[in-house]
Amino acid sequence: MTLQVDDAITLRRAMVATLRDEGLITTDSVAAAMNAVPRHDFAPGEPLEKVYQTSTTLVPKLDARGRQTSVVSASHIQAIQLEQAEVRPGMNVLEIGSGGYNAALIAEIVGPTGSVTTVDIDADIVDRARAGLRRAGYEQVNVVLADAEHGVAQHAPYDRIIVTVGAWDIPPAWLDQLTPDGRIVVPLRFAGITRLIAFDRAPDDPVLTASNYRLGSFVPMQGDGAADEQLIPITPDVGLRLDQNSPLTFDVPALRRALNTTPAESWSGTPFDMPDELELFLLTNGPELPMLHAAQAAVDQSVVNRTVRIGTPALVRGGTFAYRIKRENPQMVSGFETGVIAHGPEAEQVGSELLDMIRAWAGGYYRRGAAHIAYRPNTADTSGLTGWHTTKRHGVLAVAWL
Ligand SMILES: C[S@@+](CC[C@H](N)C(=O)[O-])C[C@H]1O[C@@H](n2cnc3c(N)ncnc32)[C@H](O)[C@@H]1O
Repeated sequence: MTLQVDDAITLRRAMVATLRDEGLITTDSVAAAMNAVPRHDFAPGEPLEKVYQTSTTLVPKLDARGRQTSVVSASHIQAIQLEQAEVRPGMNVLEIGSGGYNAALIAEIVGPTGSVTTVDIDADIVDRARAGLRRAGYEQVNVVLADAEHGVAQHAPYDRIIVTVGAWDIPPAWLDQLTPDGRIVVPLRFAGITRLIAFDRAPDDPVLTASNYRLGSFVPMQGDGAADEQLIPITPDVGLRLDQNSPLTFDVPALRRALNTTPAESWSGTPFDMPDELELFLLTNGPELPMLHAAQAAVDQSVVNRTVRIGTPALVRGGTFAYRIKRENPQMVSGFETGVIAHGPEAEQVGSELLDMIRAWAGGYYRRGAAHIAYRPNTADTSGLTGWHTTKRHGVLAVAWL
């Protein structure tokens, strides 16, 4: 038993050191919390080595179709969100989506003068979170069973709301229950992708502006705020994914024919680097692009490039489509060059249109954090918006490249 505890402490220190080395933990307060909280207390049955890896999710719960509805998140994602939140001692914090571990980390940071509430829609997860918090000695955390679409009014107002489930929108309750200068950290889904965004609010201004955003993904929100994406199959293994509010339509038979043609490749002469930033630029700066997705089988049969496995923005024009690829090129700073592959009768033209977009990003925005993201709730003036924006149920999300 003592050996187990010693092992856990050693593994925990190694986890924190790795997260620091990767630049994901940047403050002493987050490092101290992650060193203090026994993560294994929240993941019964999981091997210690796995518990303290930085990119592993734990104790998944699956629905009837085998999809994950809950996990204890990977520690690298938790580190990113905690750093984004800039939680300080004495704050009142709401965590949306429970597991217990992250709530315990927040409780460590806010200390005895602060308070933490965590809410989950699933009674099993609430029970498990409570048990873990008891085991680890964080019984002061309020654990609530509810649909977080409506927040948790009884412990509001919150200085920070940390959302640990994939949200498609920012419901009014979250803003009503946030202090006037509070911050919401939320994995927001838009244009077929998710970004972990830290939104700040200024007193007397209903508009939320993002202080930073990072790559990351979460299980989707259930309950009143659930949102489905559109999936348009081209073949059983290849499809286009669109936001639920997208009006785009496609000539599927023509695209299916295009998939069977020999594609044309062209190269941009710009480095392949920060693909998540390029992806965001392509999706929020110009014509609306769907995300092209493929099953492993389509990659194995060379129907599509392997970049499509995790999804990539595609420029679709009639029966032609193009998407970005990469190749090794030692002359590029990153050692790789971005290119384009295009299928269909207009492959050359559509490929060159996408190359121009890639070069525009490389020429003007080749850095982290170049996008300016803002969310205007419906209580603000949402008329007259220019630039890329998408209308959600409770507000408008806008992305500008300045
Ligand atoms: C990734 S897990 C949370 C992980 C947790 N924060 C931790 O400590 O690692 C996401 C959770 O959100 C919950 N959830 C989904 N929709 C919800 C909703 N509408 N309200 C509250 N919880 C929800 C799921 O049941 C799931 O347990």
